[in-house]
Amino acid sequence: MRLTKEEQAMLDGAGGSAPAKAMEILLALGTIYEAERMAPVTSVQIAGVSYDNLGESGLKFLTEMVQGGGTARVLTTLNPAGMDIHNWRQLGIDADFAAKQERIIQAFADMGVVTTCTCTPYLAGNLPHFGEHIAWAESSAVCYANSVIGARTNREGGPSALAASLTGRTALYGMHLDHNRAPTLTVNVEVKTTGSHHFGALGKVIGEKIEKSEGKLVPYIMGIKNATLEELKSLCASIGTYGGVALFHMPGITPEAGQYVPPQDSVHINQAELEAAVQSMNDADADEIDFLSLGCPHLSIKEIARIAELLAGKQVQREFWITTSRPTKQIADMMGYAGIIEESGAKFAVDTCCVVAPIKGRFNALATDSAKACFYAYAKNNFKTRFLPFDEVVSEALREEK
Ligand code: F3S
Repeated sequence: MRLTKEEQAMLDGAGGSAPAKAMEILLALGTIYEAERMAPVTSVQIAGVSYDNLGESGLKFLTEMVQGGGTARVLTTLNPAGMDIHNWRQLGIDADFAAKQERIIQAFADMGVVTTCTCTPYLAGNLPHFGEHIAWAESSAVCYANSVIGARTNREGGPSALAASLTGRTALYGMHLDHNRAPTLTVNVEVKTTGSHHFGALGKVIGEKIEKSEGKLVPYIMGIKNATLEELKSLCASIGTYGGVALFHMPGITPEAGQYVPPQDSVHINQAELEAAVQSMNDADADEIDFLSLGCPHLSIKEIARIAELLAGKQVQREFWITTSRPTKQIADMMGYAGIIEESGAKFAVDTCCVVAPIKGRFNALATDSAKACFYAYAKNNFKTRFLPFDEVVSEALREEK
């Protein structure tokens, strides 16, 4: 790879051992993927923030990066952590875990990272522009940034995203290059989809239909006339989870679709397939549900307003987590939505989510509107799942036992 003088100086240790280590990581990646050079990035999103994922070795690595002079050179935010940083006790997190999670957050803060822990950074102040090179981890956010915003990022891992933050660079390969952004498969959706639940199921069907190929397969999705931000974030989460998709185009909806014609290779998606996908995520009976969660990916303020409307004056009957970013929760506080939700007995789980929090063994069956959460609820925590439309998750939380 060709390095600029500044990049070579970083590699040689001019800025300390942390930027040098970061450059080494990027150089190794660039060499593997045959990048010719680095590109400056404008935004970074780091994943692997939960102590549940990082463990002691991850904490040690972060501490070394702090001691080695690591400093974020561009706007950098974090993925959800293993707990609500303020209200972890209310979520049943133990004190030992909390202490370790706090050390992780402090290490990132010491490096100048904005410690907003969310998988929807684009709703919390980290919103790149069309065409910008960025380095994001978190598959749902990567898919959203590439597809809906038109920014350019590979699916980074935690270390490579941190390396991009500490150097302000990424190796120029994959989704950063025009020719890898062209669609490779036309997906004809022959079914009406509305709501986050349906879009999540659609992402599962599309994801499972296409072959995984290191995030290089790019579907061109036809037949969708309208999609809200909330529906698109749900689709991005499930298509990334079930198909490894980092970018799709949707004519009339995503910004790069107009540059391309639909590829000749095509698949069709019909009603029966969508219904089968919904069914496949419903292995729990209604009376088995002991945990409910909305906010995978993290909720927008519009979704929180809807939850408040549905819960006003009522009492939930089971553990019900409302997961979102701290900035969005602060808007919910300001608008009075948070008070209404908390009075119902539902719990805000800010900075975290039902997947990254250490809750294995605490519950039996999760009800959610998120196809991604269903996947990990089973794969990570061994929960049964009930996959319901958004409003029905709230109704289920309110339903009294017979
Ligand atoms: Fe976000 Fe957790 Fe879902 S990180 S996308 S809420 S699994």
